[in-house]
Amino acid sequence: MFHLQSPLVFLLTISTLSRISSSSEQTIYQILRLNGLPMGLLPKGITNFTLDASGRFEVHLDHACNAKFEDELHYDLNVSGNLTYGQIGGLSGISAQDLFLWFPVKEIRVDIPSSGLIYFDVGVVSKQFSLSSFETPRECLASSNQIITKNLSRKFGMRINDHRETLL
Ligand SMILES: *[C@@H]1O[C@H](CO)[C@@H](O)[C@H](O)[C@H]1NC(C)=O
Ligand SMILES: *[C@@H]1O[C@H](CO)[C@@H](O)[C@H](O)[C@H]1NC(C)=O
Ligand SMILES: *[C@@H]1O[C@H](CO)[C@@H](O)[C@H](O)[C@H]1NC(C)=O
Ligand SMILES: *[C@@H]1O[C@H](CO)[C@@H](O)[C@H](O)[C@H]1NC(C)=O
Repeated sequence: MFHLQSPLVFLLTISTLSRISSSSEQTIYQILRLNGLPMGLLPKGITNFTLDASGRFEVHLDHACNAKFEDELHYDLNVSGNLTYGQIGGLSGISAQDLFLWFPVKEIRVDIPSSGLIYFDVGVVSKQFSLSSFETPRECLASSNQIITKNLSRKFGMRINDHRETLL
């Protein structure tokens, strides 16, 4: 049994190795991983991106979309930021929903060494989530968030405005 299987195992090993070594181009998900960040920070299926030597990246999605985590995240058509180990600074194009409102995420960082937590800086406050929920890239459903925010803030009036002022 073992002898019959081993040629197959050998072939699989060879093909896996050659696939890895032949892909000189790294995916944006591999780049996140190499920087100590979870791949699920960006939605599934991204192939159009740029990264310069300073760590400045730009990601172009096919459409703006929402993905569900512990909170819902919204991704604009273009997402950009500065990538350093364990951190994305100067982030633009991602917002997080909280109490019906969308807050632009300015910075994302993880603890090094890892505490299993990831922090989203949305202004003066930072929200923490468990790192494991960002392990794999999620499906992202086409969506535009601006309209939702406008309608809800109109509906909830002062209460929402007060909340926004305390957070931003
Ligand atoms: C990548 O995105 C940019 C900006 O949206 C667009 O101009 C360009 O055509 C895209 N490239 C590919 C290969 O899809
Ligand atoms: C996205 O980026 C492309 C290329 O940089 C630019 O042409 C386009 O206007 C941007 N779109 C939005 C909605 O910002
Ligand atoms: C991001 O990087 C660019 C280019 O290196 C730099 O000009 C910019 O100030 C940086 N932004 C932040 C918020 O770090
Ligand atoms: C939300 O607001 C937009 C723009 O003001 C309006 O067109 C739309 O009908 C509103 N939707 C709801 C459900 O009220």
